[in-house]
Amino acid sequence: MTDNISTYVWPGQTHFGFGAAGMAGQEVQALQANSVFVLTDPGIISAQLLEPVTSSLEAAKLIYIIYDEVPANPDIASVDAATAAFRDSGADVIVAVGGGSVLDAAKGVRLAAGGPLNASVSEYAPVMGDKVRPTPSPNDMPPMIAIPTTAGTGAEVTPWGVLTDLKRKLKFGIGGPYLVPNVALVDPELTLTLPPGLTAATGLDALSHCIEAYVSTNQNPALDPMILYGVELIGRSLRLTVAQPSNQAARRDMMLASMIAGVGISSKWLGACHSLAHQLSTFANVQHGVAIALMLPHQMAFSLPGALERYGDVGAALAGLERWELPEAGLGRRAKAERAVNAVRELVNDVGLPSRLRDAGVTVEMIPSMARNAYQLDGNWPTNPRLVDESDFENLYQQAF
Ligand SMILES: [Fe+2]
Repeated sequence: MTDNISTYVWPGQTHFGFGAAGMAGQEVQALQANSVFVLTDPGIISAQLLEPVTSSLEAAKLIYIIYDEVPANPDIASVDAATAAFRDSGADVIVAVGGGSVLDAAKGVRLAAGGPLNASVSEYAPVMGDKVRPTPSPNDMPPMIAIPTTAGTGAEVTPWGVLTDLKRKLKFGIGGPYLVPNVALVDPELTLTLPPGLTAATGLDALSHCIEAYVSTNQNPALDPMILYGVELIGRSLRLTVAQPSNQAARRDMMLASMIAGVGISSKWLGACHSLAHQLSTFANVQHGVAIALMLPHQMAFSLPGALERYGDVGAALAGLERWELPEAGLGRRAKAERAVNAVRELVNDVGLPSRLRDAGVTVEMIPSMARNAYQLDGNWPTNPRLVDESDFENLYQQAF
């Protein structure tokens, strides 16, 4: 029998639950490292989220230095500067504590620190084509412990990071199977103080990861039930985390969904929604999760014909129902799929995120260039369930405007 080969990228050693951040010390020791480069940003320090991590390192009598100069949407220069600081520190492990920006920057540091002294992280971007530097051997890259402080990117379990090229105005991916963090400490406690706006935006990002992965053209059936469970958790708990930020059960659900989504996209990848959203961030500085919320319903409605049954599953999971429990079980496949689109629209509205590009700082003049970059420079759309071209991207931006 011949078969298509499914490729699975699994997470590293993962600890999930309230208090998991306090395992940093023992996990550094388990990696046989003894000098720690803590990578974070000033917001994490002022929110006192570093405290359980540094206490744990101190209890394990480990030396550490804190480097907090990671900007939101980390660019090439900031990652190269962090790499130089890592080298100067003489540390032998990176502990990254933060949202997607910090975790992505840490992956860039691993990559650049594993290569020659003069190489910039930008030289490892596949977008360099035949000039791309080969990924360093896993043995040459410092190990990484990822401690997420948002329930959104799932970057603690994925093999990639997204960095910004300020000169060329584009976001580019870095990574590869050996860039999955060696250890993930996934602690919902760290999200209890996340403000509602960021909770909503990062939650929509996690939802888009689940949905784009579930309908992706990559076939990884072992992941499908888990990804749908992620959708169900978000349908149940995202509104609650926004309405009641300190609701522990809801925060746990969202953190779990975000991790599940990260495992899902590691193998199944993403789709056209991320190609669309990335341009909103580079052209109009829209936060990633907000950009996702703006584009997801439009990209789903466009993509329905390529994955009717799968979108139907998503609609059921968002409603917290098994497919056969839906009251309108006699509905056709198209109508069941549309239920998913409507459910996402309602969710975006309920958590207070904008639904029109014009309300998010985007101008109509940006649309043609954004459509061109989405099509020509973004690597996420090829696994979209419905084929897209540049004019489709332009239409989708127009619809969302
Ligand atoms: Fe995302």
